[in-house]
Amino acid sequence: MNNQKYLILGANGQLGKQFAKDLSARKETVIAPDEKDCDITSIDFLSKFVDSVRPTVIINCAAYNAVDLAEQQSDTAYLINTTAVKNIATLCLDKNIFLVHYSSDYVFDGLKGNLYTEQDTANPLNIYGKSKRVGEEAILSSGGQYLLFRTSWVFGNGTQNFIHKMLQWSQKNSVLKLTADEVSVPTSTIDLVDITLRAINKKLTGLYHLTNSDYASRYEWGRYIAKQLSIQSTIIPVSISAFPSPAQRPLFSAMSNQHLQHDLGITIPDWRDAIRRFLIEYPVQ
Ligand SMILES: NC(=O)c1ccc[n+]([C@@H]2O[C@H](COP(=O)([O-])OP(=O)(O)OC[C@H]3O[C@@H](n4cnc5c(N)ncnc54)[C@H](OP(=O)(O)O)[C@@H]3O)[C@@H](O)[C@H]2O)c1
Repeated sequence: MNNQKYLILGANGQLGKQFAKDLSARKETVIAPDEKDCDITSIDFLSKFVDSVRPTVIINCAAYNAVDLAEQQSDTAYLINTTAVKNIATLCLDKNIFLVHYSSDYVFDGLKGNLYTEQDTANPLNIYGKSKRVGEEAILSSGGQYLLFRTSWVFGNGTQNFIHKMLQWSQKNSVLKLTADEVSVPTSTIDLVDITLRAINKKLTGLYHLTNSDYASRYEWGRYIAKQLSIQSTIIPVSISAFPSPAQRPLFSAMSNQHLQHDLGITIPDWRDAIRRFLIEYPVQ
């Protein structure tokens, strides 16, 4: 693939693991250090590390994603999602490295009532969303070459994804309550990686919404997973107000991926298709 050398930051997370796996399978040159070997908040260390491995592309999958905890740990959220991102963007500009970074649907307030496009104004409701938005701004104004993708409701290999949680909850509860008024787009790391690599190959740059197609409430998402996994628990739709939490969440933050589909000339599979393929690659027991 154009003789690229990829450095994956946050290589132990859901998305980072998928990049490491798929790039290796494609026989690409990939460096995927653990967080302890490549803490993105230590910019001097990161800069030396980058000089030693000389990547042509940095894919930043590292993030602070604990949405509720961020309300108490705003300094840490901003350090990882904003300050470190700004430093990485500057480093990439200085060293002529292409930067790929991921942001979130939580930069929106969820009040539009329709799919968000790249032209819509961000208005995050919580610290996590604010920290991701300021990180975006740092990249947008960096002057470097980048792809900035906003994504949502990511599910990937590991135990933190919603599919795994559904299975765990169902083993302990005969009734599961899921929110019907919280709507976004479940998105598979398998498709995130594939589409990101297509975009790099096609030399796209700028801001894109990268999600699977169509959208769902958490209730619809959970019901679909339950069907795929033959979960027997009764699933009940409830309002988000049934789960008081420290961070306010947008109600309808689903984003349109039309701009990316158009520029890549592809049809991005819908989230149901993505779940079926995910369960083949990562069978859940
Ligand atoms: N998950 C979602 O539903 C979702 C939704 C919208 C957008 N996104 C965005 O999509 C991207 C990928 O998300 P994901 O689900 O793959 O996240 P993830 O599984 O939480 O992975 C993030 C990784 O970053 C690592 N990390 C944290 N602080 C770091 C630091 N200082 N230096 C180096 N690594 C550090 C984490 O390590 P530890 O585990 O050791 O902390 C973790 O391995 C992120 O930008 C995220 O904000 C995710």
